This record gives sequence, C-alpha cells and structure tokens, in this order.
Amino acid sequence: MSKVTQIAHPLILHKLSLIRDKNTGSKDFKELVEEVAMLMAYEVTRDLQLEEVEIETPICKTKCKMLAGKKVAIVPILRAGLGMVGGIIKLIPAAKIGHIGLYRDEETLKPVEYFCKLPQDIGDRDVIVTDPMLATGGSATDAITLLKQRGAKHIRLMCLIAAPEGIDAVVKAHPDVDVYVAGIDEKLNEKGYIVPGLGDAGDRLFGTK
Ligand code: PRP
Ligand code: URA
Repeated sequence: MSKVTQIAHPLILHKLSLIRDKNTGSKDFKELVEEVAMLMAYEVTRDLQLEEVEIETPICKTKCKMLAGKKVAIVPILRAGLGMVGGIIKLIPAAKIGHIGLYRDEETLKPVEYFCKLPQDIGDRDVIVTDPMLATGGSATDAITLLKQRGAKHIRLMCLIAAPEGIDAVVKAHPDVDVYVAGIDEKLNEKGYIVPGLGDAGDRLFGTK
C-alpha cells in the first residue's frame, strides 16, 4: 500500500504560502518552487540505501557511508514539473533526468501524452516523479503507468499541492508508489483546479498567462 507523506516543515509551509499568493510574480514563484522542491527532497530521499566505504581523512583511514550503487532519476511531468528539478538536482547532482510531456485537456480534464524520453537504465534507478499539482490525479497516474511500461520499478511521486481526489486516484492505481506532498487542499473546483491551490502552475512558472 502507498505511503502518503505530508511534509509540513515550517520552512516549506512558509514558502508554500508565498507560492500560493497571486501577487507573487514569475521570478519569485520559480525560485520558491525550486527551494521547496529542494527542502522536500531531503525527506523524499530519506530511505535511499547507503553502503560502507573506506576513505582517508587528513588524519587517518576511516569507514563511512555513501549512497549505494542504485542511482536516482528525476522525471518531471512537463511543463510544470520542470520547475522542481533544479532544487533536487542541487542535492543529487548525479541524478539523470527523464521527461514526460502531458497536458490536461481543458474539456475532459484527461491527460494527453506528447513526449516521453527516459534514461535507458530507468529500471535500475530510484525514480522521483515531480509535478507541483496533483489535481484529479490523471496526469500523475498516466505518467507512472508510462514509467512502468518502460521498466521503472521503484517510483515515488513528489508534488507541492494535492487535492484529496488526486491522492486517492494515484494510490488506487499505483499502490506501490509512495506519495510526498507539502500541502493537501480542500477540493477541486468545477474546472478541475485545486481549491485554494495556487492557480495554473505551468502558466505561473513560465509566465504564459
Ligand atoms: C497541470 C499540472 C499537472 C496537471 C494536474 O499541468 O502541472 O501536470 O495539470 O492535473 P491532474 O492531476 O488533474 O491531471 P497542465 O496539464 O496544466 O500542463 P502544463 O504543466 O504544461 O501547464
Ligand atoms: N493544474 C494546475 O496547474 N493547477 C491546478 O489547480 C490544477 C491542475
């Protein structure tokens, strides 16, 4: 069964409130999304496996811990998921980045796939899917299905704001995937937007509206 974790750290909640504010412009919005993603990544990667290695300090040889063989892939759902990549890659610079392009049809609210390019060895990597918004859950569910079809086995999903409906949809479709969110909001409105949410994440990130 999926583990759903709300990462309610004071720094994250403070920055999330700034992100939600309609008066926050594109430049600050982008920086804040990246910062929150970096803070969340600390928790999302808490169970990455470690191995013991021997190194030499200026004083002596010693055994200490480093990340074990399995590597990380970050897979943003385009477009808005891209905004979270910079923050995570600062913590895990060796991670490879895949891209899944999905947009939500405005009438049906169903995701439409337009791009998928993943690291060849995706099956050997710990995959972190990023998307700021988990609304109906259709986009995240389809992105994870695509990843599994391409061989990914260890997948976690990281979102800034989720609607309860979105969490339920992902957990039901992919009970093996752990979900990490900063905020769980009240509901979806009639247009499928999260309430109170932050509006359209892609448009706010890229200044397209
Ligand atoms: C937004 C968001 C998610 C999706 C969430 O993307 O970034 O991918 O909607 O909605 P869902 O949970 O109901 O599927 P959008 O389709 O607006 O594309 P964009 O990122 O290119 O703006
Ligand atoms: N996509 C967004 O960008 N915002 C929402 O509230 C829902 C879907």
